[in-house]
Amino acid sequence: MSIFSDLTLGSSESLAREINPITDKEFHSLRDLIKTRFGINLTEQKKSLVVGRLSGVLRRAGIDSFQEYFQQIVADQSGKLLSQLIDKISTNHTHFNRESDHYDFFTQTVMRTLLRNIPPRIWIAGCSSGEEAYNVAMLMLEQQQSLADLADPIILATDISSTALEKASRGVYSAENVTKLPAGMARKYFRKQPTGEMLVNQNVRKLISYKRLNLIRDSFPFRSAFDVIFCRNVMIYFDVATRRKLVAQFTQLLEVGGYFFIGHSETLGRDTPGLRYIRPAVYLRTAET
Ligand SMILES: C[S@@+](CC[C@H](N)C(=O)[O-])C[C@H]1O[C@@H](n2cnc3c(N)ncnc32)[C@H](O)[C@@H]1O
Repeated sequence: MSIFSDLTLGSSESLAREINPITDKEFHSLRDLIKTRFGINLTEQKKSLVVGRLSGVLRRAGIDSFQEYFQQIVADQSGKLLSQLIDKISTNHTHFNRESDHYDFFTQTVMRTLLRNIPPRIWIAGCSSGEEAYNVAMLMLEQQQSLADLADPIILATDISSTALEKASRGVYSAENVTKLPAGMARKYFRKQPTGEMLVNQNVRKLISYKRLNLIRDSFPFRSAFDVIFCRNVMIYFDVATRRKLVAQFTQLLEVGGYFFIGHSETLGRDTPGLRYIRPAVYLRTAET
């Protein structure tokens, strides 16, 4: 049976069959494919996590071995199965006001630079379900309401996960998630839905453009540089060589004087060409290189 049935049958488990335990060879084939195409570096310890996340896909498609699953992905010219695979494998954990000292620095320091460059260009790389992009947009509006009058979005928010991007585009979040924001912001920038969930207001949404983009690539399709790039808690899944290449690409895509934010558990080292360490997990683009 084709695995595409999972894309059409929804959550039907009626075709359930026993799945053969994954062999080392099957795990290595999947792991190598994921690493080559998406940069995500899965160690041997992640085997049971991979099986756990993919078993439902195989079961719904009536496939009983990871070998057959792998073969179907490789044979699929449309790329849908690969996309479904990365949706299952990527970790999309995020929330509003995550690593909030970045937002304080953004408001107190970065915004001053940005407001000299109207319209500013910001890239949230690995935006997951959108909280980070909306967070930045709301902070920008707090400082400069007139940004809402700009004709085009000023924040590009990208991710590889279609499911995460759909959630981002919907802009609907649990009330609990929204309460992580500074007091007053929920009232000002969200509308409560009959379900109790919170919908982001249109004046915030229009500042952001969500796009599916794989960070593992030789070049990026951008015509001009960005004033700020956020790539927080994404490169932790990549190996050192992949991270180095991507950081060099981000550096080239930043305006001199622009800012680069990474996650607090990540480090670039203090002597990365073209980037000067400013404070934990924040770098300034220098004229070097
Ligand atoms: C843990 S989330 C981080 C979300 C947010 N930046 C934050 O700090 O809360 C990591 C995100 O990176 C995305 N990601 C992983 N590999 C990627 C790739 N090769 N290209 C684009 N996005 C990728 C995942 O889909 C996921 O949404």
